[in-house]
Amino acid sequence: MERAYLDHAATTPLDPRVLEAMLPALRDGWGNPSGVYREAQAAHALLDEARDSIAATLECAAREIILTSGGTESDNLAIRGVAQARAHAGRHLITSAIEHHAVLHPMEALEAEGFELTVLPVDGEGFVDPSEVAAAVREDTILVSVMAANNEIGTVQPIAEIARAVKERNPRTVMHSDAVQAAGAIDVRPDALGVDLLSLTAHKIYGPKGVGLLYQRRRTPLEPLLLGGGQEEERRAGTENVASAVGLATALRLACEEQAARTAHARGLRDALWRELRERVHPLRLNGPADFERRLPNNLHVCFPGVEGESILLQLDMEGVAASSGSACSTGSTEPSHVLSALGVDADTAHSALRLSVGQSNTEAQVEQAAAAIPQIIERLRALAPV
Ligand SMILES: Cc1ncc(COP(=O)(O)O)c(C=O)c1O
Repeated sequence: MERAYLDHAATTPLDPRVLEAMLPALRDGWGNPSGVYREAQAAHALLDEARDSIAATLECAAREIILTSGGTESDNLAIRGVAQARAHAGRHLITSAIEHHAVLHPMEALEAEGFELTVLPVDGEGFVDPSEVAAAVREDTILVSVMAANNEIGTVQPIAEIARAVKERNPRTVMHSDAVQAAGAIDVRPDALGVDLLSLTAHKIYGPKGVGLLYQRRRTPLEPLLLGGGQEEERRAGTENVASAVGLATALRLACEEQAARTAHARGLRDALWRELRERVHPLRLNGPADFERRLPNNLHVCFPGVEGESILLQLDMEGVAASSGSACSTGSTEPSHVLSALGVDADTAHSALRLSVGQSNTEAQVEQAAAAIPQIIERLRALAPV
């Protein structure tokens, strides 16, 4: 049976072109970039090249890029780094209720340490209202963190508007955005978004796992998370992962260069899947924006009231379809998704959620395979456990 991998929001397969770019770096760039000898210089040159390529893609300066181990570290560095650097100026932080746990948990940890946290609500489709952000910003607000696109329901936030509203209220407030899910789908150049800090990760854009970046606009106050050597201009200690940096640079370049084609491909498949499901399954609840122009092009998130999401996933797997009940990290948890709760979805309905995220490797046939399997599975499960 052919497999249909419909969980690209969890992670993506490695693009063969990324692998091709990484292999020489793995083979020849093994030296420690901090050394002075030839082997070290070879590694250093590859690292510089990767950073320059990232800077060219994001249209920023190379020294504004801090290489990290991925989205989680970038988010933690942004949040803890600003809190530590600016605690003397204020202790108020703002975020939204539907952030990834890589943002929410460090925010909550800071709250437990004595910072004041405002968690902004979202509307029924997951949108943060820029005027509500502006109203929440105070003289002592040191950081606002709102994600560019949500990993569960695909809501694309009006980040440029939010950033503008924040800066108008308090130009010293640092604006961070987790754009981990947004790269390759929307314009993530920091200047286009108007942010000071931006988190990205390679493994959501057909790059390797364990590498990401934090964009740090010049003069944005930030204390390091990891202490040790002086790498990344004293902002992130640890011997650099040269081959992964090359992988990230290549994956990011391709994601931006091919954004239009990738978006069109994903949208075509996602829309076909939605048309089929909407026609063949009742009742069915769409989560996230009904206006598909305002959600990630590859994201479909639905609830099938009366059915357990985990049961759907297991049956789908047997039918050759890989999908998710929401965010990868909350799979297996009995708590309803905090994102769905924030939308006002009741716990029972939230437990019936299915996230389908298509990608580059998917074909129309695979989407048809899923569209044929899902209605049958839902019917079977509903017959087993009538509501
Ligand atoms: C929105 C968002 N932020 C952060 C992360 C964490 O990124 P990483 O897996 O690279 O640590 C993820 C991954 O699921 C994500 O979807």
